[in-house]
Amino acid sequence: AYVVTEACIRCKYTDCVDVCPVDCFREGANFLVIDPTECIDCTLCVAECPVEAIYAEDDVPEGQRHFIALNAELAKEWKPIVERKDPLSDADEWAARKDKLGELKR
Ligand code: SF4
Ligand code: F3S
Repeated sequence: AYVVTEACIRCKYTDCVDVCPVDCFREGANFLVIDPTECIDCTLCVAECPVEAIYAEDDVPEGQRHFIALNAELAKEWKPIVERKDPLSDADEWAARKDKLGELKR
């Protein structure tokens, strides 16, 4: 499956959502995850994300591998998002920030 990683936190641009053929994105307050039980590995979402937050599971960078389990866990709790919406209002400010995991709202 594909995995949403740290760069998405506090940005949530949602361009990824529109291209997913199986609607497997799930939405939290300031982050999205991919439901690994639904993702068909089509790759389409990767190029859509302006902050390059999405990776194939095997390609998730060292230091962000914990996002694999986090996507699986939160996908069970969060509801589907099936249409693009406006990003968070200060998304551009947070786009280049690192170490945002502490900002994640569950
Ligand atoms: Fe959806 Fe394809 Fe991205 Fe998986 S790889 S989340 S199926 S767009
Ligand atoms: Fe997040 Fe990128 Fe989608 S910022 S909402 S993974 S387009």
